[in-house]
Amino acid sequence: MEKWGTDVSRAAEALRKGQLVGIPTETVYGLAANALDSLAVARIFEAKNRPAFDPLIVHLARFEQVERYCRQVPPLAYRLAEVFCPGPLTFILPKKAIIPDLVSAGHSTVGIRVPNHPLSLQLLEALDFPLAAPSANPFGYVSPTTAQHVLQQLGDAVAYVLDGGPCSVGLESTIIDLSGGEPKVLRLGGLSLEALEAAVGQPLSVQTSSSNPRAPGMLVKHYAPRTPLLWQHEVTELPAGRIGYLRFSSPLPQVDPQHQWLLSPANSLPEAASKLFATLRLLDEMRYDWVLVEKFPETGLGLAINDRLTRAVQSRLP
Ligand code: TXA
Ligand code: MG
Repeated sequence: MEKWGTDVSRAAEALRKGQLVGIPTETVYGLAANALDSLAVARIFEAKNRPAFDPLIVHLARFEQVERYCRQVPPLAYRLAEVFCPGPLTFILPKKAIIPDLVSAGHSTVGIRVPNHPLSLQLLEALDFPLAAPSANPFGYVSPTTAQHVLQQLGDAVAYVLDGGPCSVGLESTIIDLSGGEPKVLRLGGLSLEALEAAVGQPLSVQTSSSNPRAPGMLVKHYAPRTPLLWQHEVTELPAGRIGYLRFSSPLPQVDPQHQWLLSPANSLPEAASKLFATLRLLDEMRYDWVLVEKFPETGLGLAINDRLTRAVQSRLP
């Protein structure tokens, strides 16, 4: 029997047995398990080769369910949920004891998100437990944006992949910490900072770059394809070997067009974001010696795109 398809009841059955299932979301595909079952959650860490200090996001069918899993949910969380749930926003909130320590990596807080994908929402509604799900890639590699990406890299680890087509947003969720004190953004992602700040009603502090595992997953070296990436603007002399070019919308006139990948000829940042990870995978398949990347505009989703590219570039540095 095929290991992938659109059979929500088969996915639910596997999850009830404590197995892992690949799930589609609007951001990236997740590697899901029953969030209330430590043994099932342990399988996620094993499959991804993920360090246990890196906590997981818990996915809910509806934001109202947050009361079961979190304490001291501030009014701001409900306000933001009304605007952005379901959607690419993760809330860090104080957790209740029902969330296993393995999910939160020993922290007193947990990440909560309502994914905006009809198949996964249907799946979550069918289950009587929430789903812990990191991005469904081996630790440190580029996140998957199709069911095929999940099967290629984690096919042996999953009982099933629910195929919801290519992800529409293509970047991981934006993470906001509402666990106390001033709200802070811990990860730039599929919801733009501008949209989030407009809803919060004030500028937000952004604390994303840290190789300190307290803000796990925010490791400087992350999201790395195999091919070394260099910033185009930092290259003064071309390196030896075959070179591919990853660009926003316009080709370089002096370079063979067949080695230039434009993420959005129409100059749309959301379109570029949705194609970023799949294109990085494709560039790996092309077996270039180097990929030269253009810096994106520092606005809207361009901020999150530059964040991922920066980490990918830095992954190659000693
Ligand atoms: O879009 C997404 O968020 C995707 C889809 C599948 O929902 N998930 C995802 O999960 O990107 P993951 O595990 O690859 O990244 C989640 C990041 C972690 O690396 C960690 O930095 C942060 O969320 N995180 C989770 N719980 C946290 C907590 N309690 N405190 C601080 N950061 C937390
Ligand atoms: Mg990830």
